[in-house]
Amino acid sequence: ASYDMGGHDTYMHKEIHEQAEAVDRVLRGRIDDRFSTVRLGGLNLDAREARQIRRVKILGCGTSYHAGMIGAQMIEELARIPADAEPASEFRYRNAVVDPDTLYVAVSQSGETYDVLAAVQELKRKGARVLGVVNVVGSAIAREADGGMYVHAGPEVCVVSTKCFTNTTVAFALLALHLGRTRDLSVSDGKRIIEGLRRLPGQIAEILEQEEEIRKLALQYAEARSMLFIGRVRGYPVAREASLKLKEVSYIHAEAYPASELKHGPLALIEPALPTVAIVPDDELLEKNRAALEEIKARSGPIMAVAHREQEKADHTIVVPKNENELDPILMGIPLQLLAYHTALALGRDIDKPRNLAKSVTVE
Ligand code: AGP
Repeated sequence: ASYDMGGHDTYMHKEIHEQAEAVDRVLRGRIDDRFSTVRLGGLNLDAREARQIRRVKILGCGTSYHAGMIGAQMIEELARIPADAEPASEFRYRNAVVDPDTLYVAVSQSGETYDVLAAVQELKRKGARVLGVVNVVGSAIAREADGGMYVHAGPEVCVVSTKCFTNTTVAFALLALHLGRTRDLSVSDGKRIIEGLRRLPGQIAEILEQEEEIRKLALQYAEARSMLFIGRVRGYPVAREASLKLKEVSYIHAEAYPASELKHGPLALIEPALPTVAIVPDDELLEKNRAALEEIKARSGPIMAVAHREQEKADHTIVVPKNENELDPILMGIPLQLLAYHTALALGRDIDKPRNLAKSVTVE
């Protein structure tokens, strides 16, 4: 497919800049202010069924898996249902126990990723209920699932996923809110989350306005041989996704680690030649994260923080707008998409079609 580039040099750049609009689309028509919840008719799941769910298992690959990790945390936080995400590619080979009280959710931009489709088919064969969180309308996974929701990111052409990731995390926030409001999430918390969701498009636009600053940072770090990405709890999947973006598009080695695990090994790597990108939200874990920055600084590791306010221990802070704690992960990775993009541009990479990769992996 070829779509208008709209004045951008690459689809990646175009798609990064389409995110405010795309998020607006995933929200449109779904918010129910009267009951502080969201309408998701396509789930084919009534309130009684929703209340019977004992667990949620989210399956996807690559970036969609990372969006699922964020989704699992949102579902646990807002709906208080134990939830986790797993690569679909692993799940389908380990003869997992399929449990009738678990809601399975398959996540995919293309809706055609073979590992995800095969997991869905295996689950259905065993009588499980499977929802799809999919971008491409009418795709194989969307058709195979018992119900689900479209993420409405619009066509994504660049092999490296950006806007679909963001929209998928917003779709999960909607699902978490919906499940929460059939269970113990209060009207006022429902309202708080809805207000937070409505702030997202404007906040995304604010982040994208910092592109020039981020481009300068990218130039500064483009010579690095490797980069470390750290985050804790809500910040960890953001770090995972940012590290995948950087390696896919710039070919710089990157590794993501939970900030809490630094002292159990990776601290040995810290030195002036290894930059760390730290996700530092202003939430209940702020002080813990600051302590990790101190550990890195004490070993002369360069630090770039993505935070809600300037971080003293960091060499550079990219300040992003604060939302509700539960929704912060939706925004914190966006500046790092720009960082990956400008790093790749500086290194002369083939941005829309990185070597060795395909947009969707439809074979085993
Ligand atoms: C994204 O940047 C990657 N190219 C890749 O990890 C991708 O997310 C993965 O292959 C899953 O694709 P899907 O969302 O179309 O199923």
